[in-house]
Amino acid sequence: MTGGMTDLDEVRSVRADGDSWSITESVGATALSVAAARAVETAAAQPLIRDEFASVLVASAGAAWARLASPDLEWISDDEHGRRAHRVTCDYQAVRTHFFDEYFRAAMASGIRQAVILAAGLDSRAYRLDWPAGTTVYEIDQPKVLEYKSRTLEAHHAVPKATRRAVAVDLRDDWPAALIAAGFHPTEPTAWLAEGLLPYLPSDAQDRLFENVTDLSALASQIAVEAFSLTAPTSERRRAARRARWARLRERLGLDINFETLGYNDSRRADAVQWLTEHGWQVHAVSNADEMARLGRPIPDDLVEETVTSTLLRARRVAAE
Ligand SMILES: C[S@@+](CC[C@H](N)C(=O)[O-])C[C@H]1O[C@@H](n2cnc3c(N)ncnc32)[C@H](O)[C@@H]1O
Repeated sequence: MTGGMTDLDEVRSVRADGDSWSITESVGATALSVAAARAVETAAAQPLIRDEFASVLVASAGAAWARLASPDLEWISDDEHGRRAHRVTCDYQAVRTHFFDEYFRAAMASGIRQAVILAAGLDSRAYRLDWPAGTTVYEIDQPKVLEYKSRTLEAHHAVPKATRRAVAVDLRDDWPAALIAAGFHPTEPTAWLAEGLLPYLPSDAQDRLFENVTDLSALASQIAVEAFSLTAPTSERRRAARRARWARLRERLGLDINFETLGYNDSRRADAVQWLTEHGWQVHAVSNADEMARLGRPIPDDLVEETVTSTLLRARRVAAE
């Protein structure tokens, strides 16, 4: 980071309409990053979640990624603050994964047999959750991302535990048509998931996403969403922490990915809880801080400002609009 760089430079988005990526490029790399956290958690002494596919999915992308997924965090062992901050990031990913795993279990227990994972990335739930017989899991993401996941898991003889349908389409395009062409039934209740997705969509695409999901949701459908705070104060300390994270990945692993420039920092973005509540969904939401504390992974006081602020929500479609 050069001394002359301003905050405006720092948050300038590198995104463009219609851009696409492989697993190691642009937004694709964010899927590797969160899967690496799941690999670290899976190897912990008392893991909150188990994703036995995360390690191979990350390591197959190259040596630097394999190091990011190494449970001992050796790549950052001589930087105590950096290691603690990274550990909290892994804790957050573990807690969010746990929240959405439980969501799917409850949705299936309620009788739903159709799931759609929006921006599935390296999500391996189709392979690792105990789906009831007759369940179909649709995974939407960009073509090269889904191709990488399918190819890697096939090479390791992984077998889905539900009927898995990969739907290779951009979520800024006409994804409902692609989903229906893949066999999706809009008249049956669905369990939707938007985990790690919203910041990477422009605000109008987020609106369209929620509109489309609502139109395709029979009564009793459910949705779970990870919504990042729109109001969290952006202090200098928070900005410095983001820059430090970027520098750590670049200098220690050679992964030159500035996650800040990959999202759309769009002030017109709708609040997910409010949008869903106003469009016929009954919402239950929890802050990431509360959920992390509840699950025994509280955010240390001195790292609160450096840690993501989000809302984890589950909602049920209770009324036609
Ligand atoms: C942070 S990753 C999250 C992946 C997965 N949900 C998880 O939690 O492991 C973001 C994912 O969003 C996907 N994505 C972002 N924008 C997209 C778009 N416009 N169309 C399709 N996929 C998109 C990326 O390819 C990437 O796999």
